[in-house]
Amino acid sequence: MGPESDSAFPKRVYLRRFLLEDAESLLDLRVRNRRFAKPFEPHRADAYYTLEGQKEVIETSMRHWDAGTGFAFGVFLRTDDVQSNGLLVGHVNLSNVVRAAWESCTLGYFIDEGHNGRGVATESVGRAVHFAFDEAALHRVQAAVMPRNGASIRVLEKAGFRREGLSARYLKIDGDWEDHLLYAVTREEWGDSA
Ligand SMILES: CC(C)(COP(=O)(O)OP(=O)(O)OC[C@H]1O[C@@H](n2cnc3c(N)ncnc32)[C@H](O)[C@@H]1OP(=O)(O)O)[C@@H](O)C(=O)NCCC(=O)NCCS
Repeated sequence: MGPESDSAFPKRVYLRRFLLEDAESLLDLRVRNRRFAKPFEPHRADAYYTLEGQKEVIETSMRHWDAGTGFAFGVFLRTDDVQSNGLLVGHVNLSNVVRAAWESCTLGYFIDEGHNGRGVATESVGRAVHFAFDEAALHRVQAAVMPRNGASIRVLEKAGFRREGLSARYLKIDGDWEDHLLYAVTREEWGDSA
């Protein structure tokens, strides 16, 4: 089983863990979306936008996966069009996995600007949460979103997340400490909405 196994999801995309051979596609995705992503992400050094930089991102994600501390998925198109079938269009990360009494992780995601507005993020988040509960046996998935990021708020609401409140100066985004709305879903709620 994996994030593919839930037949309740639409089938626009599939998720799989990153491999080193994805580095060029990931670089292409990142370079094309550099300006689009900037207002929503931490400051990135120029080295990030190089093949070496993206290999490092993937190697780090592989180490986290093997240690069970994070699960980073590429989002790949699933289409009859042979040109674009399997195209990397984004990523979804389950990070900061903590066990013991917390059994929780944080969720992050990014979808290619050219593929926005088609439900790709919502499906990808749903598949990743399914993995978090059914494969990684976690109890809670948390996401943080800036109040001005209306599209991302909508994604979380469509995916069944519950708003918990506002956390002041929560993350440093594009150089500034930004307030974030915290959203979460627990296994009990996910079971209810299935
Ligand atoms: C946010 C993001 C993931 C959305 O991806 P997407 O594939 O377009 O998302 P979906 O198509 O699944 O859903 C988007 C929803 O937001 C709605 N939406 C779009 N812009 C909006 C806005 N400014 N205000 C409110 N809702 C908006 C869409 O209409 C859609 O809702 P609907 O299905 O009810 O019509 C993508 O724009 C992105 O990667 N942004 C940059 C990185 C980022 O913000 N990541 C999340 C950080 S918390």
